[in-house]
Amino acid sequence: MNKQPPTNTQETPPDATATTTGANAATPTANAPLDVLILAAGLGTRMHSRTAKVLHQLGGRPLIAHVCHTAAALVKEGRPVHIVVGHQAEEVKAAVEAELGANGAIFITQTEQRGTGDAVMVARDALADAGSTLLVLSGDVPLMHHETLGALVHQHRTHRGRGAACSVLTVKLEDPTGYGRIVRDADGRFERIVEHKDATPEERQIKEINAGIYCFETRVLFTALERVQPANAQGEYYLTDVPGILRADGEDVSIFTHADAREVSGINTRLDLAEFERLVRLRTLRRLMLDSGVTIIDPAHTYISPEAQIGHDTIIYPGVTIEGRTQIGAGCEIRSGTRITNSRIGSGVQIKDHSVIVDSDIADSCSVGPFAHLRMNARLEERAAVGNFVEMKKSRLGPKSKAMHLTYLGDADIGARTNIGAGTVTCNYDGVNKNPTVIEHDVKIGSDTMLVAPVTVGARSVTGAGAVVTKDVPPDTLVAGVPATIKKDLRAASQPVAPESAQPQDSEETATNAVTGDR
Ligand code: UD1
Ligand code: MG
Repeated sequence: MNKQPPTNTQETPPDATATTTGANAATPTANAPLDVLILAAGLGTRMHSRTAKVLHQLGGRPLIAHVCHTAAALVKEGRPVHIVVGHQAEEVKAAVEAELGANGAIFITQTEQRGTGDAVMVARDALADAGSTLLVLSGDVPLMHHETLGALVHQHRTHRGRGAACSVLTVKLEDPTGYGRIVRDADGRFERIVEHKDATPEERQIKEINAGIYCFETRVLFTALERVQPANAQGEYYLTDVPGILRADGEDVSIFTHADAREVSGINTRLDLAEFERLVRLRTLRRLMLDSGVTIIDPAHTYISPEAQIGHDTIIYPGVTIEGRTQIGAGCEIRSGTRITNSRIGSGVQIKDHSVIVDSDIADSCSVGPFAHLRMNARLEERAAVGNFVEMKKSRLGPKSKAMHLTYLGDADIGARTNIGAGTVTCNYDGVNKNPTVIEHDVKIGSDTMLVAPVTVGARSVTGAGAVVTKDVPPDTLVAGVPATIKKDLRAASQPVAPESAQPQDSEETATNAVTGDR
C-alpha cells in the first residue's frame, strides 16, 4: 500500500451549530497534552488461536508493536503510552517493552473482558485527572499512519474554532458487515454509533463505519463512561455508546472521515492477517525496488522484512525470505530457497540456493551454499567460502578460507587461507561442555578429519584424510591416523609435501590427496 497523505472530509455541516452550543463543557484546552490509550486486552476470538490477537505477527513484528510505534510518534517525548492488557498480559507487556523500552508504556490490567467501554474504564485512575486529550486506539489496527492520527487530533482540537468533546474516525466500506455504523441526524451531524449486532435492517444499510479510533477530552470521557450500560446484544460495555451520550448532552462530536479504509482497518481474522501481510510485503518490495535499486525477480514470491536494508544491484531470486533487521550490501546475489534472519551480509556476496543464515555475519565477496547453514554468530571474513551441506555455528572462517563440502564447524576459530577438506567435523561437544577448535592460517585439513576439541592446529600444518586429531598440532606439521600422530615436520621437508600428487593451492581436496592419496 502506498503511503498517502491523510485525506479526510469533516462532514458536519459548518452551519449546524444550533443544538450543540449549549453545554459544551468539554472544550479542549489548546495546550492540553495528548495521551494515547491502546486497548489490547481482548483474546480475538475470531482468530481461533491460543495466542492473543495483538501478538500475532505482521511483517515479522507483533501487531501491538506496530500500534505502539505509531502512538510513540504522537505523544510528547518522555510521555508514556497507556495500554490496557488482559489476555496474555505478560507476553503483551514484553512485546510492548521491546518496542517502546522499559519506561515507554504504562500498563493497566483489565481482568475480565467486558467490552471496549470497560477496557477504557479500567484506565480511569491512571488518566482521568491528566487534563489531557485522549487518543483511543485498538491494538489490532497496525497500519495507521501517525500523520492520519495527527490530523484527527488537530481536527478535534480546532473543531468549530473551539474544539470537540469527542471525535470519531470513520470510513466508508462497500461491505460494512460486523462494524459499528455511524448514525447521522437529518442535518448530517453525528448522532450515535450502533453496533452491527444491535442495528436494525435499515441501520445495517449504512456504509459509514466506526474505525475504533477516537479522540476524547479525557475528563468528559470518563464522566460519560459511568453512564454506559451493557444493555445490548453482546451484554458488553461499549465504548461506542460514549459519543452518542455526549452528543445527547449537547456536546460537540466531530466526525473525521478518512478515505483510506485499509489503513485504519483492524485485523479480526487470519484472512485479514494474510491480506495485511501481503500489503506490508508489497510496500517493502516496492521501496527496495524503487528507492534502493534492488532487483526482485518475482515479487509475488519474495518475503522481505520491512526492517531489512539491501544495497543497490543486489538480485533476489524467487522464494527468498529475509527476516528481521538483516542488512545486505550492494551487488549480491541471493538465490532461491534461502532464508536470512537478523544477519549482516557485505557487498558482492553470493548466497547460493537453499541456504539458511541466522544471526551471522558475512563479509564482502564471500560465497555461501548451496545448502549451507550458518547460525549463532557464524562469521565469514572477506572472500571466505562455505559450500554444499556445511554447517557453521559460533565460528569464524578467516579471509580466503574455504569449507566447501559436508562439514560441521562449531565453536571454531579458523585463520586466513585455510582449507577445510570435505567431511571435516569439529567434535566440539564432549557430552557436557562445548569446546573450542582453533585452526590457524594456511592450514590444510584433510577430508574426513575429526578435530576432537579442545584442540589447536598450528599455522601451515596439514592433517591426513580420516585423521582423528585429539592433541594439539604444532605449526608446520603433518599429522595423520587414528588417533593422529606426527608424520613429518614440514619445515624440514622440501615443499611441496608430496610432489607426485600436489594439487592446485586453492583446491579444497589438496591436503587429503597430497598427504594420503586415498580419495
Ligand atoms: C469495535 C467497535 C466497532 C468498530 C470496530 C472497528 C465496540 C463496541 N465496537 O468492534 O464499533 O466498528 O471496533 O474495528 O467498541 N478490547 C479490550 N477489552 C475488552 C474488549 C476489547 O481490551 O473487553 C480490545 C481488543 O483487544 C481490541 C479492541 O479492544 O484491540 C477492539 O475490540 P474488538 O473486540 O476487536 O471490537 P470490534 O468487535 O472489532
Ligand atoms: Mg476489532
